[in-house]
Amino acid sequence: MPEAPIYLDHNATTPVAPEVVEAMWPYLTERFGNPSSATVQGRLARVGVDRAREQLASLIGARPDEIVFTSGGTESNNLAIRGAASVAAVKRAVTSVNEHPATVQPLAHLRNSHGWEIDELPVDAEGRVTAADMPAGDLGLGTVILAHNEVGAVQPIDDLAEAVRTAGGLMHTDGAQAVGKIPVSVAELGADLLSIAGHKLYAPKGVGALWIRRGIRIDPVLVGAGQERGIRPGTENVASIVGLGAAAELAAERLTSEAERQAGLREDLWHRMRTAIPDLVRISPSAGCLPNTLMVAVPSMLGADLLERTEEVDASTGSACHSGVHTPSSAFLAMGFTPDVALGALRLSLGRSTAAADIERAAAALAHAANTLAAEREHA
Ligand SMILES: Cc1ncc(COP(=O)(O)O)c(C=O)c1O
Repeated sequence: MPEAPIYLDHNATTPVAPEVVEAMWPYLTERFGNPSSATVQGRLARVGVDRAREQLASLIGARPDEIVFTSGGTESNNLAIRGAASVAAVKRAVTSVNEHPATVQPLAHLRNSHGWEIDELPVDAEGRVTAADMPAGDLGLGTVILAHNEVGAVQPIDDLAEAVRTAGGLMHTDGAQAVGKIPVSVAELGADLLSIAGHKLYAPKGVGALWIRRGIRIDPVLVGAGQERGIRPGTENVASIVGLGAAAELAAERLTSEAERQAGLREDLWHRMRTAIPDLVRISPSAGCLPNTLMVAVPSMLGADLLERTEEVDASTGSACHSGVHTPSSAFLAMGFTPDVALGALRLSLGRSTAAADIERAAAALAHAANTLAAEREHA
Protein backbone atom coordinates (compact mmCIF):
# COMPACT_ATOMS: atom_id res chain seq x y z
CA MET A 1 0.00 0.00 0.00
CA PRO A 2 1.44 3.47 -0.85
CA GLU A 3 2.39 5.59 2.16
CA ALA A 4 -0.10 8.32 3.08
CA PRO A 5 1.05 11.80 2.06
CA ILE A 6 2.78 13.81 4.78
CA TYR A 7 0.33 16.39 6.06
CA LEU A 8 2.07 19.78 6.17
CA ASP A 9 -1.00 21.99 6.12
CA HIS A 10 -1.73 22.54 9.81
CA ASN A 11 -2.35 26.26 9.25
CA ALA A 12 -5.34 25.28 7.11
CA THR A 13 -6.68 22.97 9.79
CA THR A 14 -5.55 20.47 12.40
CA PRO A 15 -6.96 17.02 13.12
CA VAL A 16 -9.10 16.79 16.25
CA ALA A 17 -6.85 15.51 19.05
CA PRO A 18 -7.88 12.10 20.49
CA GLU A 19 -8.10 13.67 23.98
CA VAL A 20 -10.51 16.25 22.54
CA VAL A 21 -12.70 13.59 20.96
CA GLU A 22 -12.76 11.76 24.28
CA ALA A 23 -13.81 14.91 26.16
CA MET A 24 -16.55 15.64 23.61
CA TRP A 25 -18.06 12.18 23.36
CA PRO A 26 -20.26 12.29 26.51
CA TYR A 27 -21.74 15.59 25.29
CA LEU A 28 -22.67 14.01 21.96
CA THR A 29 -24.33 11.08 23.71
CA GLU A 30 -25.64 10.94 27.26
CA ARG A 31 -25.14 14.62 28.23
CA PHE A 32 -27.30 16.13 25.55
CA GLY A 33 -28.94 18.90 27.58
CA ASN A 34 -29.55 22.50 26.65
CA PRO A 35 -27.33 24.61 28.94
CA SER A 36 -30.09 27.22 29.27
CA SER A 37 -32.49 24.66 30.67
CA ALA A 38 -32.88 24.12 34.42
CA THR A 39 -33.23 20.34 33.97
CA VAL A 40 -30.68 17.86 35.26
CA GLN A 41 -29.46 17.42 31.67
CA GLY A 42 -29.31 21.16 31.15
CA ARG A 43 -27.22 21.64 34.27
CA LEU A 44 -24.78 18.92 33.15
CA ALA A 45 -24.35 20.68 29.81
CA ARG A 46 -23.87 24.03 31.59
CA VAL A 47 -21.09 22.51 33.70
CA GLY A 48 -19.34 21.38 30.49
CA VAL A 49 -19.59 24.82 28.89
CA ASP A 50 -18.43 26.61 32.05
CA ARG A 51 -15.43 24.33 32.41
CA ALA A 52 -14.47 24.92 28.78
CA ARG A 53 -14.70 28.66 29.37
CA GLU A 54 -12.25 28.32 32.26
CA GLN A 55 -9.87 26.13 30.25
CA LEU A 56 -9.79 28.54 27.31
CA ALA A 57 -9.46 31.60 29.55
CA SER A 58 -6.55 29.94 31.33
CA LEU A 59 -4.67 29.38 28.03
CA ILE A 60 -4.65 33.14 27.30
CA GLY A 61 -4.46 34.46 30.87
CA ALA A 62 -8.02 35.81 30.75
CA ARG A 63 -11.02 35.68 33.08
CA PRO A 64 -13.69 33.13 32.13
CA ASP A 65 -16.37 35.82 31.90
CA GLU A 66 -14.36 37.52 29.15
CA ILE A 67 -14.82 34.54 26.77
CA VAL A 68 -17.72 34.43 24.29
CA PHE A 69 -18.06 31.20 22.32
CA THR A 70 -18.73 31.51 18.59
CA SER A 71 -18.73 29.30 15.50
CA GLY A 72 -15.07 30.02 14.67
CA GLY A 73 -12.55 32.58 13.52
CA THR A 74 -14.72 34.18 10.85
CA GLU A 75 -17.59 34.78 13.23
CA SER A 76 -15.30 36.05 15.98
CA ASN A 77 -13.73 38.58 13.62
CA ASN A 78 -17.16 39.71 12.39
CA LEU A 79 -18.44 40.05 15.95
CA ALA A 80 -15.34 41.98 17.04
CA ILE A 81 -15.16 44.31 14.04
CA ARG A 82 -18.85 44.92 13.44
CA GLY A 83 -19.72 44.86 17.13
CA ALA A 84 -17.00 47.39 17.99
CA ALA A 85 -17.87 49.55 14.98
CA SER A 86 -21.44 49.78 16.12
CA VAL A 87 -20.41 51.47 19.40
CA ALA A 88 -17.57 53.58 17.92
CA ALA A 89 -17.69 57.38 18.01
CA VAL A 90 -15.43 57.74 14.95
CA LYS A 91 -15.95 55.89 11.65
CA ARG A 92 -12.30 55.23 10.97
CA ALA A 93 -10.34 52.00 11.32
CA VAL A 94 -6.72 51.03 10.93
CA THR A 95 -5.62 47.59 9.76
CA SER A 96 -2.69 46.05 7.87
CA VAL A 97 -2.34 45.29 4.16
CA ASN A 98 -1.92 41.59 5.02
CA GLU A 99 -5.14 40.43 6.66
CA HIS A 100 -7.22 37.27 6.33
CA PRO A 101 -10.47 37.65 4.33
CA ALA A 102 -12.31 37.15 7.64
CA THR A 103 -11.01 40.63 8.56
CA VAL A 104 -10.86 42.19 5.09
CA GLN A 105 -14.53 41.52 4.35
CA PRO A 106 -16.06 42.87 7.59
CA LEU A 107 -13.94 46.01 7.07
CA ALA A 108 -15.11 46.26 3.44
CA HIS A 109 -18.67 45.99 4.75
CA LEU A 110 -18.03 48.90 7.14
CA ARG A 111 -16.57 50.95 4.30
CA ASN A 112 -19.20 50.13 1.68
CA SER A 113 -22.33 50.06 3.83
CA HIS A 114 -21.54 52.33 6.77
CA GLY A 115 -19.23 55.01 5.35
CA TRP A 116 -16.11 54.00 7.30
CA GLU A 117 -12.63 55.10 6.27
CA ILE A 118 -10.13 52.21 6.42
CA ASP A 119 -6.38 52.92 6.62
CA GLU A 120 -3.99 50.07 5.80
CA LEU A 121 -0.57 49.89 7.43
CA PRO A 122 2.22 48.67 5.11
CA VAL A 123 4.39 45.66 5.99
CA ASP A 124 8.16 45.31 5.78
CA ALA A 125 10.08 42.54 3.98
CA GLU A 126 9.30 40.16 6.87
CA GLY A 127 5.58 40.91 6.74
CA ARG A 128 5.53 43.06 9.86
CA VAL A 129 3.78 46.36 10.52
CA THR A 130 5.13 49.04 12.81
CA ALA A 131 3.28 51.41 15.13
CA ALA A 132 5.43 54.23 13.68
CA ASP A 133 3.24 54.02 10.54
CA MET A 134 0.02 54.61 12.47
CA PRO A 135 -1.97 57.46 10.92
CA ALA A 136 -2.57 60.64 12.91
CA GLY A 137 -6.07 61.46 14.13
CA ASP A 138 -8.90 59.77 15.97
CA LEU A 139 -9.81 56.11 15.41
CA GLY A 140 -12.86 53.99 16.12
CA LEU A 141 -11.08 50.65 15.70
CA GLY A 142 -7.77 48.94 15.05
CA THR A 143 -7.60 45.35 13.77
CA VAL A 144 -4.36 43.58 12.89
CA ILE A 145 -3.71 39.85 12.60
CA LEU A 146 -1.63 38.48 15.49
CA ALA A 147 0.23 35.85 13.44
CA HIS A 148 -0.11 35.66 9.68
CA ASN A 149 -1.77 32.55 8.27
CA GLU A 150 0.56 32.29 5.24
CA VAL A 151 3.83 33.95 6.23
CA GLY A 152 3.70 33.24 9.98
CA ALA A 153 4.98 36.72 10.96
CA VAL A 154 3.96 37.72 14.48
CA GLN A 155 2.87 41.36 14.80
CA PRO A 156 3.71 43.85 17.59
CA ILE A 157 0.11 44.05 18.78
CA ASP A 158 1.03 45.68 22.11
CA ASP A 159 2.55 48.74 20.37
CA LEU A 160 -0.34 48.98 17.94
CA ALA A 161 -2.91 48.61 20.72
CA GLU A 162 -1.34 51.46 22.64
CA ALA A 163 -1.45 53.71 19.58
CA VAL A 164 -5.06 52.75 18.80
CA ARG A 165 -6.15 53.35 22.39
CA THR A 166 -4.42 56.76 22.41
CA ALA A 167 -6.38 57.55 19.23
CA GLY A 168 -9.61 56.65 21.06
CA GLY A 169 -10.34 53.29 19.42
CA LEU A 170 -10.73 49.65 20.44
CA MET A 171 -8.03 47.20 19.35
CA HIS A 172 -8.90 43.79 17.91
CA THR A 173 -6.45 41.11 16.88
CA ASP A 174 -7.15 37.95 14.91
CA GLY A 175 -5.41 35.24 16.91
CA ALA A 176 -6.75 32.31 14.87
CA GLN A 177 -3.25 31.16 13.89
CA ALA A 178 -1.49 32.21 17.07
CA VAL A 179 -3.49 30.81 19.98
CA GLY A 180 -2.26 27.29 20.75
CA LYS A 181 0.96 27.73 18.73
CA ILE A 182 2.71 30.52 20.63
CA PRO A 183 2.19 31.86 24.15
CA VAL A 184 -0.62 34.43 24.08
CA SER A 185 -1.32 36.45 27.21
CA VAL A 186 -4.08 39.01 26.92
CA ALA A 187 -2.38 41.18 29.56
CA GLU A 188 0.78 41.41 27.45
CA LEU A 189 -1.12 41.71 24.19
CA GLY A 190 -2.76 44.94 25.31
CA ALA A 191 -5.67 44.48 22.87
CA ASP A 192 -9.37 44.67 23.75
CA LEU A 193 -10.63 41.84 21.55
CA LEU A 194 -8.98 38.56 20.45
CA SER A 195 -10.39 36.01 17.98
CA ILE A 196 -9.76 32.28 18.43
CA ALA A 197 -10.54 29.46 15.94
CA GLY A 198 -10.94 25.95 17.37
CA HIS A 199 -9.89 23.99 14.30
CA LYS A 200 -6.43 25.54 14.26
CA LEU A 201 -5.64 24.09 17.71
CA TYR A 202 -6.86 20.49 17.46
CA ALA A 203 -10.51 21.22 18.34
CA PRO A 204 -13.31 20.64 15.80
CA LYS A 205 -14.26 22.95 12.97
CA GLY A 206 -17.20 25.27 13.59
CA VAL A 207 -16.27 26.43 17.08
CA GLY A 208 -14.25 29.40 18.27
CA ALA A 209 -14.31 32.26 20.70
CA LEU A 210 -13.93 35.97 21.08
CA TRP A 211 -12.13 37.29 24.12
CA ILE A 212 -13.60 40.64 25.15
CA ARG A 213 -11.69 42.58 27.79
CA ARG A 214 -13.79 43.07 30.90
CA GLY A 215 -15.48 46.48 30.84
CA ILE A 216 -15.50 46.73 27.03
CA ARG A 217 -18.93 46.86 25.46
CA ILE A 218 -19.59 45.81 21.87
CA ASP A 219 -22.91 45.23 20.15
CA PRO A 220 -23.97 41.71 19.08
CA VAL A 221 -24.21 40.88 15.39
CA LEU A 222 -26.85 38.18 15.92
CA VAL A 223 -29.86 38.89 18.09
CA GLY A 224 -32.02 36.30 19.75
CA ALA A 225 -32.25 34.66 23.16
CA GLY A 226 -29.69 35.77 25.72
CA GLN A 227 -26.95 33.09 25.51
CA GLU A 228 -23.34 34.19 25.96
CA ARG A 229 -24.58 37.28 27.81
CA GLY A 230 -26.57 38.28 24.74
CA ILE A 231 -23.37 38.95 22.78
CA ARG A 232 -23.71 35.71 20.83
CA PRO A 233 -27.21 34.30 21.20
CA GLY A 234 -28.16 30.82 20.02
CA THR A 235 -28.10 27.45 21.80
CA GLU A 236 -24.49 26.63 22.52
CA ASN A 237 -22.61 24.06 20.45
CA VAL A 238 -21.94 22.22 23.71
CA ALA A 239 -19.84 19.28 22.52
CA SER A 240 -17.60 21.44 20.35
CA ILE A 241 -17.22 24.04 23.10
CA VAL A 242 -16.20 21.24 25.48
CA GLY A 243 -13.75 20.12 22.77
CA LEU A 244 -12.32 23.62 22.48
CA GLY A 245 -11.81 23.71 26.26
CA ALA A 246 -10.02 20.35 26.21
CA ALA A 247 -7.91 21.48 23.24
CA ALA A 248 -6.93 24.65 25.10
CA GLU A 249 -5.82 22.65 28.13
CA LEU A 250 -3.81 20.31 25.92
CA ALA A 251 -2.23 23.24 24.08
CA ALA A 252 -1.22 24.86 27.38
CA GLU A 253 0.48 21.63 28.50
CA ARG A 254 2.41 21.21 25.26
CA LEU A 255 2.95 24.79 24.07
CA THR A 256 6.60 25.20 25.02
CA SER A 257 7.81 21.73 24.09
CA GLU A 258 5.87 21.60 20.80
CA ALA A 259 6.93 25.10 19.74
CA GLU A 260 10.55 24.17 20.30
CA ARG A 261 10.25 20.77 18.61
CA GLN A 262 8.37 22.10 15.58
CA ALA A 263 10.69 25.08 15.15
CA GLY A 264 13.64 22.65 15.11
CA LEU A 265 11.97 20.46 12.48
CA ARG A 266 11.00 23.53 10.47
CA GLU A 267 14.63 24.69 10.37
CA ASP A 268 15.71 21.19 9.36
CA LEU A 269 13.17 21.29 6.52
CA TRP A 270 14.46 24.68 5.38
CA HIS A 271 18.12 23.60 5.43
CA ARG A 272 17.44 20.35 3.60
CA MET A 273 15.41 22.11 0.91
CA ARG A 274 17.81 25.03 0.63
CA THR A 275 20.73 22.64 0.07
CA ALA A 276 18.90 20.69 -2.62
CA ILE A 277 17.23 23.68 -4.34
CA PRO A 278 19.90 26.42 -4.51
CA ASP A 279 17.62 29.29 -5.57
CA LEU A 280 14.96 28.55 -2.94
CA VAL A 281 13.65 31.74 -1.30
CA ARG A 282 12.48 31.90 2.31
CA ILE A 283 9.40 34.12 2.56
CA SER A 284 8.68 33.46 6.25
CA PRO A 285 10.90 35.39 8.65
CA SER A 286 13.35 33.23 10.57
CA ALA A 287 12.66 35.09 13.85
CA GLY A 288 9.34 36.39 15.16
CA CYS A 289 7.46 33.73 13.22
CA LEU A 290 5.02 30.95 14.12
CA PRO A 291 7.25 27.98 15.04
CA ASN A 292 5.45 25.58 12.69
CA THR A 293 5.33 27.74 9.56
CA LEU A 294 7.69 27.80 6.59
CA MET A 295 6.67 29.70 3.49
CA VAL A 296 9.20 29.19 0.71
CA ALA A 297 9.23 29.83 -3.01
CA VAL A 298 11.02 28.39 -6.00
CA PRO A 299 11.35 31.35 -8.39
CA SER A 300 10.02 30.85 -11.94
CA MET A 301 8.10 27.76 -10.92
CA LEU A 302 4.45 27.49 -9.98
CA GLY A 303 3.88 26.27 -6.44
CA ALA A 304 0.88 24.36 -7.79
CA ASP A 305 3.04 22.53 -10.39
CA LEU A 306 5.49 21.55 -7.70
CA LEU A 307 2.84 20.17 -5.40
CA GLU A 308 1.18 18.30 -8.26
CA ARG A 309 4.48 16.49 -8.80
CA THR A 310 4.92 15.72 -5.09
CA GLU A 311 2.35 13.13 -4.16
CA GLU A 312 4.17 12.47 -0.88
CA VAL A 313 3.36 15.94 0.48
CA ASP A 314 -0.04 17.40 1.32
CA ALA A 315 0.46 21.18 1.55
CA SER A 316 -0.81 24.51 0.23
CA THR A 317 0.52 26.90 -2.37
CA GLY A 318 0.71 30.59 -1.67
CA SER A 319 -1.31 31.56 -4.71
CA ALA A 320 -4.92 31.32 -5.75
CA CYS A 321 -6.01 29.55 -8.94
CA HIS A 322 -9.24 30.51 -10.70
CA SER A 323 -10.06 28.93 -14.05
CA GLY A 324 -6.44 27.93 -14.57
CA VAL A 325 -5.09 31.45 -13.93
CA HIS A 326 -2.69 31.69 -10.98
CA THR A 327 -2.69 34.88 -8.94
CA PRO A 328 0.15 35.56 -6.52
CA SER A 329 -0.75 36.19 -2.89
CA SER A 330 -1.09 39.92 -2.25
CA ALA A 331 0.67 39.31 1.10
CA PHE A 332 3.94 38.40 -0.64
CA LEU A 333 3.72 41.28 -3.10
CA ALA A 334 3.14 43.67 -0.17
CA MET A 335 6.37 42.30 1.37
CA GLY A 336 8.26 43.26 -1.78
CA PHE A 337 8.55 39.83 -3.47
CA THR A 338 8.20 39.84 -7.26
CA PRO A 339 5.23 38.00 -8.84
CA ASP A 340 7.72 35.46 -10.20
CA VAL A 341 8.77 34.50 -6.66
CA ALA A 342 5.27 34.86 -5.18
CA LEU A 343 3.80 32.41 -7.72
CA GLY A 344 6.34 29.79 -6.67
CA ALA A 345 5.26 29.89 -3.03
CA LEU A 346 4.58 26.80 -0.93
CA ARG A 347 3.26 26.89 2.60
CA LEU A 348 4.61 24.07 4.72
CA SER A 349 2.98 24.10 8.15
CA LEU A 350 3.95 21.47 10.70
CA GLY A 351 1.95 20.01 13.56
CA ARG A 352 2.05 17.68 16.54
CA SER A 353 2.17 14.56 14.40
CA THR A 354 5.07 15.78 12.23
CA ALA A 355 8.15 13.64 12.88
CA ALA A 356 11.79 14.01 11.84
CA ALA A 357 11.37 11.24 9.27
CA ASP A 358 8.48 13.15 7.67
CA ILE A 359 10.68 16.20 7.25
CA GLU A 360 13.42 14.16 5.61
CA ARG A 361 10.95 12.53 3.24
CA ALA A 362 9.09 15.76 2.43
CA ALA A 363 12.28 17.71 1.76
CA ALA A 364 13.60 14.98 -0.54
CA ALA A 365 10.31 14.72 -2.44
CA LEU A 366 9.95 18.48 -2.92
CA ALA A 367 13.57 18.84 -3.99
CA HIS A 368 13.20 15.96 -6.45
CA ALA A 369 10.09 17.55 -7.96
CA ALA A 370 11.68 21.00 -8.23
CA ASN A 371 14.85 19.68 -9.82
CA THR A 372 12.96 17.41 -12.24
CA LEU A 373 10.74 20.29 -13.32
CA ALA A 374 13.77 22.53 -13.82
CA ALA A 375 15.53 19.85 -15.90
CA GLU A 376 12.44 19.30 -18.07
CA ARG A 377 12.23 23.04 -18.70
CA GLU A 378 15.86 23.17 -19.71
CA HIS A 379 15.35 20.40 -22.27
CA ALA A 380 12.01 21.71 -23.60
C1 LIG B 1 -5.93 34.16 10.43
C2 LIG B 1 -7.25 33.53 10.25
N1 LIG B 1 -8.37 34.18 10.63
C3 LIG B 1 -9.58 33.64 10.50
C4 LIG B 1 -9.75 32.40 9.95
C5 LIG B 1 -11.13 31.85 9.80
O1 LIG B 1 -11.42 30.94 10.82
P1 LIG B 1 -12.63 29.89 10.65
O2 LIG B 1 -12.22 28.97 9.57
O3 LIG B 1 -12.72 29.23 12.00
O4 LIG B 1 -13.85 30.68 10.34
C6 LIG B 1 -8.63 31.67 9.55
C7 LIG B 1 -8.78 30.34 8.92
O5 LIG B 1 -8.23 30.05 7.90
C8 LIG B 1 -7.35 32.26 9.70
O6 LIG B 1 -6.24 31.62 9.31
